[in-house]
Amino acid sequence: MARILPLEDALAPAIEIIELGEVVAIPTETVYGLAADATNGEAVARIFEVKGRPRFNPLIVHVGSFDMAREVAVFDEISERLAQKYWPGPLTLVLPLNENHCIHPLVTTGLETVAVRMPMGFGQQLINTLGRPLAAPSANSSGRISPTSAQAVADDLGSKIELVADGGRTQVGVESTIIKVGDGEVRMLRPGGITADEVSEFLGVDVVRGGSGSIEAPGMLASHYAPDASVRLDAQEVRDGEALMAFGPRRIANAAAAKAILNLSPDGNLREAAANLYAYLKALDGTGAATIAVEPIPVDGLGEALRDRLVRAAAPRDGGSLIPQ
Ligand code: TXA
Ligand code: MG
Repeated sequence: MARILPLEDALAPAIEIIELGEVVAIPTETVYGLAADATNGEAVARIFEVKGRPRFNPLIVHVGSFDMAREVAVFDEISERLAQKYWPGPLTLVLPLNENHCIHPLVTTGLETVAVRMPMGFGQQLINTLGRPLAAPSANSSGRISPTSAQAVADDLGSKIELVADGGRTQVGVESTIIKVGDGEVRMLRPGGITADEVSEFLGVDVVRGGSGSIEAPGMLASHYAPDASVRLDAQEVRDGEALMAFGPRRIANAAAAKAILNLSPDGNLREAAANLYAYLKALDGTGAATIAVEPIPVDGLGEALRDRLVRAAAPRDGGSLIPQ
């Protein structure tokens, strides 16, 4: 079973494990990540193995400094501005690989681009102490709910990994926003912790949703973030045996009929809702309800990322189909 250690005790063993080519679960400001040395093919292969992740789905490279980022990738002017503004923080940039990069091709699944981000806090400290970038997807079995606490990681992957560094509940609660700049356009490949409106306002340009025709964030599987229970969106009533994920002060008429109720944010605050999303999905799933009914959530601001995750949690579980972009 994995050891769960507080951050101050976790740094040294985490470095030791990573240097041996193994994986370690670490907190980031978004969700917990399953981290390994991005330059070591066997270590990266372990990430795919532990998660049961399809090999066509590339990983995000986490860097500790701008110098390290520039060794990995080539920045255009707009991406540079975004990085300066939002790093360290919940923004991932898809960029062309630098010619002399040292990232193992398994990380990018052979693409000529690489997704890069600079995490806050412990992650950044770990990378800079190690002196090498880390590949780190969310620390959950592929397709399942992303973890926002050390215990959630241990519940899912505890038998397969040695160490979870415990940084408490993550602050943002949903994954980073993925942006790709190209052909004069700023594209958001995945909504996340930084809203499209914020990016658009900062740059003074519109942000385009989705890839440019082909699927550009190959990990955007239709079914993802899935609990055992099925998920029913925009519920206006509670049906027999359902658990209810509420949002905001309004209460649907027969809410009391629910097997269990958790409110993502009684005040209707989207930031609070994002921070609670995965933990509440997991908790309601734990009640054994066959279905989790979800009240309507506005899609503005962070609501776009919430909606994206919930739509995938509610998608048919045939595993492989992709949401057309
Ligand atoms: O907040 C986060 O980003 C978390 C924490 C742990 O950092 N990580 C995370 O990683 O969400 P993961 O592997 O669950 O999601 C990575 C996403 C996938 O949708 C993948 O397809 C996309 O990034 N991606 C990776 N490389 C890409 C590339 N070169 N082009 C387009 N999309 C890419
Ligand atoms: Mg993930």
